[in-house]
Amino acid sequence: MVKIAPSILSADFSKLGDEIRDVEKAGADWIHIDVMDGQFVPNITMGSLVVDAVRPITSLVLDVHLMIEAPERYIEQFANAGADYISVHVEATKHLHRVIQLIKSCGVKAGVVINPHTPVEAIRHVLEDADLVLVMTVNPGFGGQTFISSAIEKIEKLHSLKEENRYSYLIEVDGGVNEETIAQCVQAGTDVAVAGSAVFGKQDRKAAIKMLRSKAE
Ligand code: DX5
Ligand code: ZN
Repeated sequence: MVKIAPSILSADFSKLGDEIRDVEKAGADWIHIDVMDGQFVPNITMGSLVVDAVRPITSLVLDVHLMIEAPERYIEQFANAGADYISVHVEATKHLHRVIQLIKSCGVKAGVVINPHTPVEAIRHVLEDADLVLVMTVNPGFGGQTFISSAIEKIEKLHSLKEENRYSYLIEVDGGVNEETIAQCVQAGTDVAVAGSAVFGKQDRKAAIKMLRSKAE
């Protein structure tokens, strides 16, 4: 069954603790945390302080998505804050393989992310080391954007490469995931679906998560 990872980017930050407890109760599997630096993407969001604050209030997996230039500078900080997964963009670092090793050496699961224009080939040689591959289905930077469906063939490719080579990574999709788009993601091989506005944008989070799951079957 697909895991649902609500992105706190669309939560009400004036009561973040309550928001996280609410989606946990509503059946969320992971909590997705979007870190933006105003350089790699045209928006600034949150840093490791937020991961620190969230860690004691939930037992859910904390899935940290770094949309920052040269993420190698901050891996230890996010690991110490309590991240379970740290994902970095191939477009944001010169030495992707080294960053993956660094994440793992901190005892954290390592994810690699590709933007909508980036082919699977760009991460082909780190797939055997990745715990997670995140396929962006919007241009990173903001919640509430429209799903880019050309990414579906990349999910299919990652799924078949995983089967052929017995790789162990999970496939995650992020951006514009909602009740209309989740089915095609799951059919293509998605294991984890990030959903910001489709969960936090709804009053009834339990109904929202249930709806996503029912469309994914
Ligand atoms: C976009 C972020 C996403 C975002 C998704 O840069 O990486 O995680 O929060 O939001 P929705 O689900 O609203 O597209
Ligand atoms: Zn994200």
